Amino acid sequence: MTYDFDRPVDRIGSDSTKWRVYGPGVLPLWTADMDFRVPEPVIAALRARVDHGVFGYCVEPPELREILAERLGRLYGWHVSAGDIVLGTGVVTAFHRACRAAAGPTDGILVQTPVYQPILGAATHNGSVGQQAPLARRADGRWEIDFEAFETAVTGRTRVFILCNPHNPVGRVFSRADLERLAAMCLRRDVLICSDEIHCDLVFPGSAHMPIASLDPEVAKRCVTLMAPSKTFNVPGLRCSFAVVTDPDLRRRLVGEESATFSEVNNLALAATLAAYRDGQDWLDQVLAYLAANRDFVAEFVRRELPGAAMAPPEATYLAWLDCRTCGIDGNPQQFFLERARVALQDGEWFGPGGEGFVRLNFGCTRATLAEALERMATALRE
Ligand SMILES: Cc1ncc(COP(=O)(O)O)c(C=O)c1O
Repeated sequence: MTYDFDRPVDRIGSDSTKWRVYGPGVLPLWTADMDFRVPEPVIAALRARVDHGVFGYCVEPPELREILAERLGRLYGWHVSAGDIVLGTGVVTAFHRACRAAAGPTDGILVQTPVYQPILGAATHNGSVGQQAPLARRADGRWEIDFEAFETAVTGRTRVFILCNPHNPVGRVFSRADLERLAAMCLRRDVLICSDEIHCDLVFPGSAHMPIASLDPEVAKRCVTLMAPSKTFNVPGLRCSFAVVTDPDLRRRLVGEESATFSEVNNLALAATLAAYRDGQDWLDQVLAYLAANRDFVAEFVRRELPGAAMAPPEATYLAWLDCRTCGIDGNPQQFFLERARVALQDGEWFGPGGEGFVRLNFGCTRATLAEALERMATALRE
C-alpha cells in the first residue's frame, strides 16, 4: 500500500511527550519520534490483540527472535542465532545494564562526545568514572572520529565503551575502517563494546550500516549490540528493544538466568514488534524516501535562508545537527528559537562537550510542519 506521510496526524491530546512539553503554539521538533502513523500491519496486529481483550502474563511469540536473527543475516551478513538475542524494554535500560555488569565504581565508561545525553550520563548513572573522547568537526561540517583523542581517552581503567552508530546527534554512519580501528583499540585493552545501533535502519542511500560485532566473531565476543523497532517503525512508546550478545557468559552476566515463563516486554509491544519486523518493510522503504527528501529540504533551506547556520546532511537518522555559532544569536540558540520562533529544538548542550552553540532538529514530521518551523526560524533570525 502507499502511505501518505503528508497527511497530518493531530498528536495534541494523545499524551505525546513531544507535543505536550512546550504546549500549544510551539512547533515541536525536538525529541526523537516521528509524527507519522506506523505501518498498517502493526496497527492491525495491535487491534487484533486489543480485540482479544485478555492481557495476561505473556511470553515472546516463538518466531520473533528467529525473524530478528534472519534479518541480521540478510541485512548485514551477520549470522547470529535466535539464542543470542535478548528482548528488553528499551535501549537506555539495556546499556545501563551492560555498564552495571562490566564496570564498578573505579572503572571507566568511555563515550564519544557530543552524544545522546543518556549515553553521556551512563557513567554517572552507574556510579563509575566518565571518560570522553571528543569527535572532530571538519571544516565542511562533517564529524569524524578523532582516533588520537580516542587512544588518549582509553586507559587501563576503561571497562566499557558505549559506541553510538549511527551517531546521534552528528548523523554519521561509521565505516568498516572506522569500526575496525575502534574494535582493535578496545580489544587490546579488553574493553566491552556496548554498541547502541538504535538508528541502524534509518540510513540514507550512499551509506550502509555495519554492526561493529559483525566484523568478526572475536569482536562479537566483546560486544553487546543494541537495536530496537522504536526508531525504525516509530513505536518508542511501546517500549521494546533487543540486545545481541553472542558470548554466553557475557549474556548470562547481563540478564541472569531469565525465566522462560514471563516476558519483560508487554504483550502489545510484542505483537507490534513481530508485525513490524515481519511485515513493515514496505512502510520503512517509503518513510525513508520521505525522510531523505525532508533532509535535503532542511539542508537546502539552511543554506539559503538561515544565514550563518550550517549543517552537514546526516547519513542516517531524522535528526539534523545545526551549527548556530555564527548566526549572530546572543546566548543559547535553543532558547532563542523557542522564544522568538516558537519552535522547540533539542539544545546542543544536552549532548555534552562539543554541543555548545548547536541545536538538533527532528525532521521526522510532515513537510508542511517542517517548512513552517524553518520559516519561523528564518524570520526570527532576520528580525
Ligand atoms: C542513540 C539513542 N539511543 C537510545 C535511545 C532511546 O532508546 P529507548 O527509548 O529504547 O530507551 C535514543 C532515542 O532517541 C537514541 O537516540
